[in-house]
Amino acid sequence: MFALEVQDVTRRSVLDCPGGPSSFAAIASAWGGSVTAVDPFYTRSVSALDAECAAAVDRTVAQLTENPGLFVWDLYEDVETCGRYLRAAYERFLADYARHPGRYVAAALPDLPFASDSFALVLSANFLFLYDDRLDRDSHVAALRELARVAREEVRVFTLASLDRERSAYVDPVVDRLRADGLTVEFRDVPYEFQPGATEMLVVSDCTRTT
Ligand SMILES: C[S@@+](CC[C@H](N)C(=O)[O-])C[C@H]1O[C@@H](n2cnc3c(N)ncnc32)[C@H](O)[C@@H]1O
Repeated sequence: MFALEVQDVTRRSVLDCPGGPSSFAAIASAWGGSVTAVDPFYTRSVSALDAECAAAVDRTVAQLTENPGLFVWDLYEDVETCGRYLRAAYERFLADYARHPGRYVAAALPDLPFASDSFALVLSANFLFLYDDRLDRDSHVAALRELARVAREEVRVFTLASLDRERSAYVDPVVDRLRADGLTVEFRDVPYEFQPGATEMLVVSDCTRTT
């Protein structure tokens, strides 16, 4: 979903925000990368997260089973396989969270506990623009300014589609505000597609200009 090559995450320091129950930090670290993941739910114990992630996967699988035709199955093949991917991801995350707690920082946008320019590359998946029924335009701008503040090179954001599977109405107004700040913002195609047509990521660069 971020069109990354292995060397993109092994040669540069990376922040994954929000990391949630994904296995990205565990896997990229196993490859030799320097990855920090942030999520407000990293205050919780392994057993509490285990129960929560299991319930979340069950809910997702139930929702996908109701409407499989709304999604693209090229990668996951079918709902059952997708459920297996999601379970394997959160189990890998939980094992890493237990073993390397320092990699996982409990914090929430728009306030990250890092100095400016702390990470070369900042990734943000499946939070901004997805929940545009809960986050307003100013919250998106504040979150993206904060991600750009801690990034030295670039911020990549995916998805740009909200839960109703349409491109979020906040994308263009938020991009206008970031460009007015002096940031460079572009859209790039990615090979991943799960929500039909949602194959674009947002790339914010020249991040040090505003810090
Ligand atoms: C759908 S998950 C995405 C996680 C991961 N990026 C992925 O794609 O699997 C959304 C995450 O956003 C986190 N979250 C909620 N409010 C947040 C905030 N203000 N700042 C950062 N993360 C937040 C939630 O705890 C949840 O883990």
